[in-house]
Amino acid sequence: MSDTASTTAFGPVPPGWLWGAATAAHQIEGGNTNSDWWAFEHAPGSPAMESSADACDSWHRWPDDLALVSEMGLDAYRMSIEWARIEPAEGEFSLAALEHYRRILASAQDRGLKTAVTFHHFTTPQWMAVQDGWMNAEIVDRFARYADIAVQHLGDRIDMAATINEPNVVAGLGYATGGFAPGIAAGQVGLRAATENFVGAHVKARDAIKGGPGEFPVGLTLALPDLVVHPDGTLDGQGFRYDELPADAPGADYLRVMAGVYLDAAQDDDYIGVQTYFTQHVAPDGTVLAVPADERVTQMGWPFTPESLGRAVRHAHAVAQVPVIVTENGIATTDDEERIEYYARSLASLRQAMDDGVDVRGFFAWSLLDNFEWAEGFRPTFGLAAVDPVTFDRTLKPSGRWYAELVWASRS
Ligand code: NOJ
Repeated sequence: MSDTASTTAFGPVPPGWLWGAATAAHQIEGGNTNSDWWAFEHAPGSPAMESSADACDSWHRWPDDLALVSEMGLDAYRMSIEWARIEPAEGEFSLAALEHYRRILASAQDRGLKTAVTFHHFTTPQWMAVQDGWMNAEIVDRFARYADIAVQHLGDRIDMAATINEPNVVAGLGYATGGFAPGIAAGQVGLRAATENFVGAHVKARDAIKGGPGEFPVGLTLALPDLVVHPDGTLDGQGFRYDELPADAPGADYLRVMAGVYLDAAQDDDYIGVQTYFTQHVAPDGTVLAVPADERVTQMGWPFTPESLGRAVRHAHAVAQVPVIVTENGIATTDDEERIEYYARSLASLRQAMDDGVDVRGFFAWSLLDNFEWAEGFRPTFGLAAVDPVTFDRTLKPSGRWYAELVWASRS
């Protein structure tokens, strides 16, 4: 690794900037048995590798998580609240669950941290999933009602909110291919229906959240790989990035469903949450083109392409025309030096975009902890801190200390 690859110099950040780390409820809490993901993990023949089980036991050990965020000297903690716990049966709301999240948020704020709350991070209550989940248009009102009740209880403890995390991923994997919960493989029909309902639910929940207590920015977060579409379907043929692909070219429709419709909806939001991990080459129908055998890949099999972040941020800002917050970025690797190299390079590409005029307001590392990586189980390790699988003890990795140094240096 070269010196430039590990430098902690990000340079000064604009006022109000947020350095943070992110988690999601189902990936860290454990025992989230009332959600479609739990059902999916336990279904016979499920593509999920293993059960989320106790995950990181953050349902009980959340004070340890907040302590890590403070130890790194970050500004903010991004976490999600679990619809399946807050509304365990249709129309029945759990004050105990709401109080639990209120304690976490209050405790984070007492530590001087800003709270960034995601209202839906991949998991849907099982009672809704068995009614076709996000393919059912009734989910728009049901999600907005949940968001309204949640914000009434928590709004004064929230500093930034995301309605829905990566709806584009859930629409594709959850409802078109069935590789994610709830495991519906309805192809284009599933993809289109879920996409429409996600956009509708985002808008309605955003308005409900903004109508509640507290004054804070509200947006959504999007999986935004640095996409390269190859109209002829092969890596050898010419590839086009989002803004280079003519609107009538093969693949334009795919880009619309994966990103365009959400970026358009975000034009009325306070920010767009960008989540980028890699450069992805696809055929016009979205089929992923395999990376060449000699390419450097991460534990997820994703190409090691940290500079994808700068490109995605530029695109999101150009289309949505609202401030960008990088709500996730990081790498699954067992080699912590490689994690440092990844962040140094992704952050350098972000800096370059900012220097070129892109309005970026913050950066959240994914993830605070090694955690439950959905269908892949616990094997991929994205954390700045390791979690002992038996004792659940958390240990900051060298990359966590490196991030802390970079954050500190950006303030001096
Ligand atoms: C995005 C998702 O929001 C998060 O839950 C996941 O763990 C990371 N990507 C890594 O795949």
